[in-house]
Amino acid sequence: MEKIIYILILIILENSDFYKDIKTIYSPTTFDFIVNKNIKLNDEYIPNDLEMINKIYSCNEKYLRHEARIAFETLAKDAKKEGLNIIAVSAYRSFDYQTKLYSNYVSEKGFYYADMASARAGHSEHQTGLAVDVASNNLDYDNFEKTEEFIWMKKNAYKYGFILRYPLAKFHITGFKYEPWHYRYVGKNISKYIYDNDLTLEEYAKEKAP
Ligand code: DAL
Ligand code: ZN
Repeated sequence: MEKIIYILILIILENSDFYKDIKTIYSPTTFDFIVNKNIKLNDEYIPNDLEMINKIYSCNEKYLRHEARIAFETLAKDAKKEGLNIIAVSAYRSFDYQTKLYSNYVSEKGFYYADMASARAGHSEHQTGLAVDVASNNLDYDNFEKTEEFIWMKKNAYKYGFILRYPLAKFHITGFKYEPWHYRYVGKNISKYIYDNDLTLEEYAKEKAP
């Protein structure tokens, strides 16, 4: 089954418009802007309101933009009240860091796998300072889907302004394989709308376009 999905993904990648006609964003002013395979951040972009996530809820020093940092800590605190541990294992990543990460993927897993799992530099939501990868106590984000914490995140993340950014079976829209661990802060109104209507950020933008 996995092999069939992989082949389907390769066909989509080969025939898609991903990484073509790329638009560049210089200074985002809202929380719902899109960064994906067709819209990139300026290489030099570093958010000016990055703050360190309280280490109770993160693995080492991890940074998010002010509003996303507060929302994430509130989310993690509420989950903890129910005995669940939501830990940030990756948050803001610089352009240079993403360059290395993507090229490691290419050397270790090949070009196609890399493009399915990792964004090219400039195209990663992690450079926005609004995206966070989470895991439970074992810090194993790859297996996050199997945890109680994931069930909680699926049900509750939107209440804090976060969306599951790369849902299952939306590869043809988002360009990335299912990532149960990757959440993007968009603000509470938009996250609720996206959750209620089962949309990706791309579909939301299309719906809202004039
Ligand atoms: N894994 C996500 C798509 C990223 O590299 O930003
Ligand atoms: Zn991520």
